[in-house]
Amino acid sequence: MKRWRIAVLPGDGIGKEVMEAAFLPLERLNLDAHFLWGDVGWEFWKKEGDALPQRTVELLRSTDACLFGAITSKPANEALQELDPHLQGKGQKYSSPIVKLRQMFDLYVNLRPCKAFPGNPLNYRERINLVIFRENTEGLYAGVEFHPLPSEVREVLERHHPAMKRFSLARNEEIAISLRLMTKKGCRRILEKAFAYAHRFGRQRVTLVEKGNILRETGSLMIREAQSVAQDYPGISFEVANVDALAMWLVKNPEQYDVLVAENLFGDIISDLAAQLVGGLGFAASGNIGERYAIFEPTHGSAPKYAGQGKANPIAMINATAMMLEWLGELERARALERSVSEVIRAEKVRTYDMGGTASTMEMAQAIADRII
Ligand code: NAI
Ligand code: MG
Repeated sequence: MKRWRIAVLPGDGIGKEVMEAAFLPLERLNLDAHFLWGDVGWEFWKKEGDALPQRTVELLRSTDACLFGAITSKPANEALQELDPHLQGKGQKYSSPIVKLRQMFDLYVNLRPCKAFPGNPLNYRERINLVIFRENTEGLYAGVEFHPLPSEVREVLERHHPAMKRFSLARNEEIAISLRLMTKKGCRRILEKAFAYAHRFGRQRVTLVEKGNILRETGSLMIREAQSVAQDYPGISFEVANVDALAMWLVKNPEQYDVLVAENLFGDIISDLAAQLVGGLGFAASGNIGERYAIFEPTHGSAPKYAGQGKANPIAMINATAMMLEWLGELERARALERSVSEVIRAEKVRTYDMGGTASTMEMAQAIADRII
């Protein structure tokens, strides 16, 4: 029996290429693991009418963690047109596998480390090393939305909130509502993870990204919970920043931030902002983490423009595997992998196209693998 069972879902386009590449360094690390490859993505939508077949869900349920490459998603009508003829007209509906998996496994933490590797020509600034904890299941992405606004919902809102008066002239069809739904439990658990992480990895500062002066109810709930969790960590300095101001500060002084924690939408936006400060999509990795299961992926998609050319930067995928190792508690292997990535970037020899060079996906991955001792 091996120690770990890891599901591997390469997906589509460059997802397949970066996954294959990530195994060069991963195999060098001699992780005591079974790797179980599974089906996900566009090919399975077309052939089977399901981008996330049930057998893949079962596979994940039998494993400790999952590595996910990237998938292709298309708008609903295009998705229907590409279905195999025998599946047409059967009421199939495309939905994103990664979103489904986050819900199915209650992967409520979206962890996004953003680190400026010294020597990366794409760094906006050196010495950036921050980590974002984005709440992954509720907030403005809770999925509770209305259009047109049902009359019953409208009546209840009008009865309970005077601010609805201002909209009295708009007809139901002219109103759309997306609820920013936050729960005490949802706020608390993302905050606890952020502080626990800061404590475990010796980080000094936790910044809650909110907008409590305007979003008074949801913002205050999050801020109250944060203040309460912060009391358990007297050694870590805690502050609340407004999301708009933080966007400016992140560009001005990105080196000063350490651990950022935010609700779903705010976290989504600042994650992309922060990723671009340290090299963009070729470097950005994320973890979708729950209590007992986690899925690690590069932030980028299947990049159809570059699929089949073997030129995508595999570092985002490799960084995702390092995150998985860390989450599993395989800290020495995680550090060894990070060190190799860091040394290859610092050596300034092997460069993929996004870094201004001509190295292929596999050449970059091989260079990283070769540094592992
Ligand atoms: P994308 O992330 O696939 O690519 C956008 C651009 O970023 C590429 O054209 C390329 O210039 C650059 N890029 C991305 N990854 C790179 C890498 N590893 N190395 C170097 N450059 C890289 O986003 P796009 O084009 O908007 O979406 C393509 C498909 O991917 C769509 O079907 C979309 O729905 C899907 N997608 C899937 C995601 C996932 O699997 N989690 C996330 C984002 C998009
Ligand atoms: Mg995003």
